[in-house]
Amino acid sequence: MGARIGVIGAGQVGAAAAYLLSGTAGVSDVVLVDVNTARAAGEAADIGHAAAFGNAARVSEGGYADLAGASVVVITAGASLQPGQTRLQLVQKNLGIADNVVEQVLRAAPDTVLLFATNPVDVMPALAVLRWGVPASRAIGTGCMLDSTRFRDRLAHHLKVAPGAVHAYVYGEHGDSQVLHWSSAVAGGVPILSFAEQLGRPIDAALQQTMAEDVRDAAYRIKAGKGVSNFGIGGCIARLVHALVADEQGVFPVSTFMPEVLGVRDTCVSLPHVLGAGGASHAFMPPLSATEGEALAASAAVVATTLREGMA
Ligand code: 2OP
Repeated sequence: MGARIGVIGAGQVGAAAAYLLSGTAGVSDVVLVDVNTARAAGEAADIGHAAAFGNAARVSEGGYADLAGASVVVITAGASLQPGQTRLQLVQKNLGIADNVVEQVLRAAPDTVLLFATNPVDVMPALAVLRWGVPASRAIGTGCMLDSTRFRDRLAHHLKVAPGAVHAYVYGEHGDSQVLHWSSAVAGGVPILSFAEQLGRPIDAALQQTMAEDVRDAAYRIKAGKGVSNFGIGGCIARLVHALVADEQGVFPVSTFMPEVLGVRDTCVSLPHVLGAGGASHAFMPPLSATEGEALAASAAVVATTLREGMA
């Protein structure tokens, strides 16, 4: 018997997450909760029909009470990014929605791990900690997991090697102040800039800048093209849920509330975290170049300010 996973919000992100979770090892039961119960029921039935071809989890529409016993509850409810908006501009509206959602989830599943995908995604775990007393280890934002996959994909595309051969991370805010951690990026254990040089596909400062913009603006381009960004985040959610329910002790760039990051108090930014059955057990500060350190502190300050103003 695998784990029960709740997904709050049956919009495009919730549906993509539920679909991918239906085929995720260790998951046996996905409960889709939405104020629009007909929509949740429709998505659950549709996913169930695709899942009928494989050895997949059961997906059903449900209410908050059906989340009892859920190992992880994924929160995707809220307004999504519109063209011309930044994620931070969603803070007031989505904090209000998340506040209500968290209260109801905790009533049914007080010990669950909350995994937030609602933007601004770095502010939501702090809400759960500061307003609802959830331990920081059990309130996780998908954070820069998605940006890190975009960075890795961008590098792999340029280098013409498999994305799985590239290890590259983005830290800080899942948003415009994010920090590409060039100094730890490697392929086959070779620092990425040296790897690129040896391959005859150098990455000079101008290309680094272009790549940083490509990664930072990926969601804006996806939204301009198709109106919604859902599969990338759905894949990240499924991967993180697997790490949690399989007690993987894997290390992922996600966000949790931290009392201090590089001198910035009460913030919530992505750093390497160990994920297992109890949630996020440790956060690590990677070695940073002077530029990366300044950028990460500035990013932590952006989230701290948004959080303070949003919760005031
Ligand atoms: C993304 O980065 C919109 O935060 C979402 O795709």
